[in-house]
Amino acid sequence: MKAVILAGGLGTRLRPLTYRTPKPLVPLVGKPLVRHIIDSLPSRVDTVVLAVSYMKEALEDYFRVNDCGRKVILVNETQPLGTGGALKNVEEHLDETFLAFNGDVICSLDLNAMLHRHRQMGGIGTVALWEVEDPSPFGVVALDPTGRITRFQEKPSRAEAVSNLINAGTYIFEPEILDHIGPGVVSLEREVFPQVLVDGLFGHEFEGYWVDCGTRESYLKAQETIMRFQGDRVFDLEIRGKVALEGPYHLDGAYLEDCQVGPNVYVYPGAEIMSGAIVSNSAIMAGARVSVGAQVRDSLIGPGQVVPQGSSIIGQIIAER
Ligand code: GDD
Ligand code: MG
Repeated sequence: MKAVILAGGLGTRLRPLTYRTPKPLVPLVGKPLVRHIIDSLPSRVDTVVLAVSYMKEALEDYFRVNDCGRKVILVNETQPLGTGGALKNVEEHLDETFLAFNGDVICSLDLNAMLHRHRQMGGIGTVALWEVEDPSPFGVVALDPTGRITRFQEKPSRAEAVSNLINAGTYIFEPEILDHIGPGVVSLEREVFPQVLVDGLFGHEFEGYWVDCGTRESYLKAQETIMRFQGDRVFDLEIRGKVALEGPYHLDGAYLEDCQVGPNVYVYPGAEIMSGAIVSNSAIMAGARVSVGAQVRDSLIGPGQVVPQGSSIIGQIIAER
């Protein structure tokens, strides 16, 4: 079975981190975003097709060096084709029921259970659904009592939204869906879904967690959610003096000196947090340094970056441009 991951977005909302690193490779809780999806695939998925349109070389380099137990095919778009166009663009690799993913979503969905339901309902597609309070920044569905989607609205106003159930960005499709996608730039959500409702597009609700990691805030929420799920972890930590820790945290190969860390802090290998520093709700990436007396809150400190002595970084993304 094959899985397509839509990973062609520019990651504009995670800039400047995404100037040097394509969003699928941005580290989240210790591994690239895209690995969270690949590692969650059922064992029957033997091939991953990554639809990209930006920094393909960096992704190629990553997959050359890192084996993820499956064949990975990278397909480039010369211009971003939209979520539907990107699927159509990888059509030659798809011949049977396949999985498709928005590449920027992390969740606890059980894909085997969803596959079971897809086979049971027998439609052209099944869409994972998640309940939220404000559905307006997402795709919103209305369901009939059998779970069939009767309406799909992409980013409606809050008043127009027909429910609180949103498109969670994970799909199972029959290859016939590709016949409904024309050439060029096509939006799966705006142009294709409304058109295939008659062929049976079903919803599949699930429990646990779901986070879209496209922004600094949602990235940090995803980090916290996953760390709470995993529990506090510490590896090869070097500590000098007194360190106050508040969970959830994950400290891997870091150096800490008389500082205050947490809650929700992930410190990557080679990072240093120096005397008097206070770090909360942040990621301190590989080799970065929070200097003496500095404060970092609600921020992503990119690989190798230095937070100057005594400075305050609040609600920022710091990375090489
Ligand atoms: N290859 C490729 N080409 N991928 C693309 C393109 C493109 O032109 N445009 C977007 N993508 C990828 C993005 O990288 C992302 O992983 C995914 O498709 C979804 O695009 P976003 O731009 O992140 O869409 P969104 O977050 O506003 O809305 C989508 O996701 C919501 C859930 O997070 C929609 O699918 C909504 O219906 C859904 O609720
Ligand atoms: Mg998104």
